[in-house]
Amino acid sequence: MASAFAPGKCILFGEHAVVFGYPAVAVAIEQGVHVTVENSSEWTLEGIPFDPSRHPHITHIIKELFEYEGPPLSLNVQSSLFSAAGMGSSAALSNAIGAALHSHLNPTEPIDRIKMAKMAHSAEATAQKGRASPTDTATSALGGCVVVSGGHVDGTRHVFDTSLLTPEGKRKWSINVVDLPASVSDAWLVIGYSGKGSPTGRMVAKVARLLSDRPERFEDMEAIANITTAGLTALSAGNLDALGMAMDACHESLQRLEVSNSALDRLVEAARPHSLGAKLTGAGGGGCMVALTKNPKRVSGAIEVAGGRPLYTKLGSGGVRVL
Ligand code: MEV
Repeated sequence: MASAFAPGKCILFGEHAVVFGYPAVAVAIEQGVHVTVENSSEWTLEGIPFDPSRHPHITHIIKELFEYEGPPLSLNVQSSLFSAAGMGSSAALSNAIGAALHSHLNPTEPIDRIKMAKMAHSAEATAQKGRASPTDTATSALGGCVVVSGGHVDGTRHVFDTSLLTPEGKRKWSINVVDLPASVSDAWLVIGYSGKGSPTGRMVAKVARLLSDRPERFEDMEAIANITTAGLTALSAGNLDALGMAMDACHESLQRLEVSNSALDRLVEAARPHSLGAKLTGAGGGGCMVALTKNPKRVSGAIEVAGGRPLYTKLGSGGVRVL
């Protein structure tokens, strides 16, 4: 049996803007997806017959990306992420399936994380109707802190480039990493699930429509890009206060892009008195918010009282791995 784990991710800055080539900063989190793969007499997922039409994402990875034509497989998936909630669960699933399948087929060959990231991005783009940045998939594959941008970003280490044909034209992204300073380990991210899924494809399409109807709203994208640069400088310097302030500012810009909602705003407000900063994370319209804090128990309690489901993690866990 082959087995692999891939982490979820939390976007600190730049969600939505990154789809249009602006920078984003994301960290891998401790929670993620665990997948096992083994030969079987029939195709199964979680012990029940596998229906490819119900799982196009998994089918795409196995059949089109791996071009797998071997014997039937039995797949088991365990996730500690809220699904469809902006935590990168589908990217983590793609990476974990890719790594487990790779290890099943080539047990002695180490996984190539860049190949995993590109493969998972292709699966993600298929699921998001051609509008998916490589943020979730690269962060889950590489781990740590990942900066995705249309061009080079000062103070980062370049890892690879990738591109995608989107309905708005061809986009190119540069994938970079940043080493987090030791002081960042004094802080936790508390992620609060609003209880409702976050329809990424729909939210990304909504922002594309808003920008096409009202091109002046690119101002909000520019504002997010400036906040992202300031936030990255704070993160690289281990300045947690400035990092939190940038997160607060990012939430306001996302509200102006109309991707927040009352449930997310309520959780953000509840977390702020005990946090350095808080914002929605991921696509919005539901899903999760995130708070940066030195007091994760207190913030988790506040989120629960406000009707959310919390979990907490340190920033920058390891990337996809064969177990
Ligand atoms: C997804 O976690 C965040 C978005 O920026 C979409 C993407 O990057 O593909 C909204």
